[in-house]
Amino acid sequence: MSDPGQAGNGQPVMPDASEASEFDALLDAAVDAVVVIDDEGRILRFNRAAETMFGYAVAEILGQPLAMLMINEDARGHRRQVERYKQTGRGHIVGKAREVIARRRDNSTFPAGISVGEAQSAHGRRFVGLIRDLTAQKEAEEEALRHRDQMLHASRLTTMGEMAAAIAHEINQPLSAIATYTAACQRLLDRGAEARDDIVAALHEIGGQAHRAGQIIQRMRNFTRSRESMRRLLSVEEMIEEILPLAELDARANRVDLRVVIAPSLPPVNVDGVQIQQVVLNLLRNGVDAMVDTPEEQRLLSLQVALTDDSQVQVEISDRGTGVGKPARDGLFTPFFTTKATGMGMGLAISRSIITAHGGKLDYINNTAGGATFYFTLPAALEA
Ligand SMILES: Nc1ncnc2c1ncn2[C@@H]1O[C@H](COP(=O)(O)OP(=O)(O)OP(=O)(O)O)[C@@H](O)[C@H]1O
Ligand SMILES: [Mg+2]
Repeated sequence: MSDPGQAGNGQPVMPDASEASEFDALLDAAVDAVVVIDDEGRILRFNRAAETMFGYAVAEILGQPLAMLMINEDARGHRRQVERYKQTGRGHIVGKAREVIARRRDNSTFPAGISVGEAQSAHGRRFVGLIRDLTAQKEAEEEALRHRDQMLHASRLTTMGEMAAAIAHEINQPLSAIATYTAACQRLLDRGAEARDDIVAALHEIGGQAHRAGQIIQRMRNFTRSRESMRRLLSVEEMIEEILPLAELDARANRVDLRVVIAPSLPPVNVDGVQIQQVVLNLLRNGVDAMVDTPEEQRLLSLQVALTDDSQVQVEISDRGTGVGKPARDGLFTPFFTTKATGMGMGLAISRSIITAHGGKLDYINNTAGGATFYFTLPAALEA
């Protein structure tokens, strides 16, 4: 059986001269850039969309190496791939779409998706490349990431806002201590040389208290500053210890007993530390909120970190609040779902999206103490 469009080996056949002008017209009508190259990577055809995309006229580009259309690094990679494919018939060059940095005639560059097919002509093997300008797609992706970072930032500010009363109270303490010691120093100065040691001690106290207030503010700033997402190998224990002072303030201000148990020798995780801290604070805040009607002596919030059987680091936060009630059950991870008068309903939606993006899971169960246990996992990082 012979199919006029197929060579004996099943590959498409290039058109002969009589069909060439129709073929050119079709190529020029294509929306994507189409470039045909030979075995050596020399350009044989260059359609109109390619002319527009790269700024070369077809006459000046014919016979030139395809590598001219890419930055050097990608061109080298491309040549290697073509060589490998020619020798072995295998490789990534044909069939799969790849991303390269393409170069225009004026040396400006743009991200491009390139997919290559192979055809057999009377003159030898031909490759046909479809090239797509990915600038708009990349910009949209970056814009989406920026939006996400902005949303995460806004949510951290909200969390801090909710904790503001407790934090203000906490900073007020060292400040009033400083005022008291300062007044004492002024009185001691009247007593002359004999009061020197007391004055030194009071100044030491003032320094310590100022340091304490500064640390609280520093932690808040680290947590709330606007930043781009960034992953590193981190210890869950250290991440939690960093935010613990803030969480404790919030707990204490709401008469909640916060207990933390972290298993020893946990493996590190590859995460954006501030985002994970944000999840932990969101869950702790929800736990505190859930216990407003719990008798004070029963307000226990417990945070546990352990390794699961399948090597995931699991963080669990249990409260003795109301538990997740029927009305909340279906909606609590949906953005803007809230049962609180002043809630925004973003805490859990954001937390779940952060954990999912890190390859983990976030969920909850109502616990036997009548409250809720929210837990999330993070895959342990394989240490290099
Ligand atoms: N520990 C919990 N116990 C009981 N219900 C909870 C608990 N955590 C969350 N919920 C329910 O899930 C809803 C959504 O929680 P989420 O954290 O997303 O928003 P929120 O706390 O209402 O507002 P915010 O955006 O300020 O966090 C809550 O309004 C509440 O009804
Ligand atoms: Mg919340």
